[in-house]
Amino acid sequence: MAFGNLGQKLTALEIYDLVRKDLDQVEKEIGLESVSSVEAVTYISQYLQTGGGKRLRPILVLLSGKLFGPTEPALIRMAAVVEMIHTATLVHDDVIDLAKTRRGRPSINVVWGNHTSVLAGDWLYMQAFQVALRERKFALLDILIELTQRMVEGELLQLDRIGKIGVTETDYMELIDRKTASLFAACAKLGAVCGNATSEQESQLGEYAWNLGIAFQLIDDILDFTSREKILGKPVGNDLREGKVTLPLIYALESAEPEERKLVETVLADGSYDQVPFGKILQILKRYNSIERAEERARGFTSKAREIIGGFPESAFQRALVSVTGLVTDRDH
Ligand code: IPE
Ligand code: IPE
Ligand code: MG
Ligand code: MG
Repeated sequence: MAFGNLGQKLTALEIYDLVRKDLDQVEKEIGLESVSSVEAVTYISQYLQTGGGKRLRPILVLLSGKLFGPTEPALIRMAAVVEMIHTATLVHDDVIDLAKTRRGRPSINVVWGNHTSVLAGDWLYMQAFQVALRERKFALLDILIELTQRMVEGELLQLDRIGKIGVTETDYMELIDRKTASLFAACAKLGAVCGNATSEQESQLGEYAWNLGIAFQLIDDILDFTSREKILGKPVGNDLREGKVTLPLIYALESAEPEERKLVETVLADGSYDQVPFGKILQILKRYNSIERAEERARGFTSKAREIIGGFPESAFQRALVSVTGLVTDRDH
């Protein structure tokens, strides 16, 4: 293998190669666990599983566990569990956000409607817990239950702030901590528990992944302004249309002129770009260098993550975790 040089950065492909066999097992496990006697659930699960997705969270579980030894079946199962939880949150998130597209295809709520989607999301959550429960390990359940509550709290906080222009950076950070970084942290901790790591190692890895998760959401919110739907698999400009004031916009609003603020307020009030085109909002962000500022903020979190994981013994898996940080900030979808 090409991992001879100390400190060498791994490409996405090299990282993927390290977990490829395990990921195949994870996919099998998800497939097996997504079958219900009620046809709609099986259909929806299969639709989601075949719809793509980066599988970043299971990769994080696997790499974290493999830091401490060879892959055990429990590690595969926990990687499947986090992807199932992630999927369930996306199904619910798309209902709440009235999303039309996910992973480049019509979202579940569009195909099956809100009622079925909410119930299918619930089913997936519970199925994920059932798989985790079979391990008979309270440490795993502790992580998962706390996580799920934090994620739901994140979505509730978000609902409360929808359409509000006065969201601050502190509000925003509190929100993405819950809705995204908590799941990343849980992934690394689950891997550590499966690998019988010490509690010190578990919390260090959790902190690494928390920083990674914050950066990941910051980039998601930046891509919402800078990417294109074909690449992203979901529409751009979506957050503001949905009433979400994210960090790039928070930065711009700190310095914006009253007329510029008015334009943002109009989009928030309309829930569309009918009166104020998306390009106008992009101009405001450009004028105040808000995208660059938010990118800089994301890089601050990934360098913190690198610093933490840098304290772990050198190995291909440790290097992969170091390199994942670069992929998160450089990604285009
Ligand atoms: C989407 O996560 C939800 C966010 C936290 C932004 P991903 O971008 O990892 O979604 P998939 O799984 O690759 O589709
Ligand atoms: C992140 O929120 C989603 C979850 C934590 C479920 P977003 O609403 O930004 O995610 P996207 O942009 O719809 O993927
Ligand atoms: Mg959404
Ligand atoms: Mg988003």
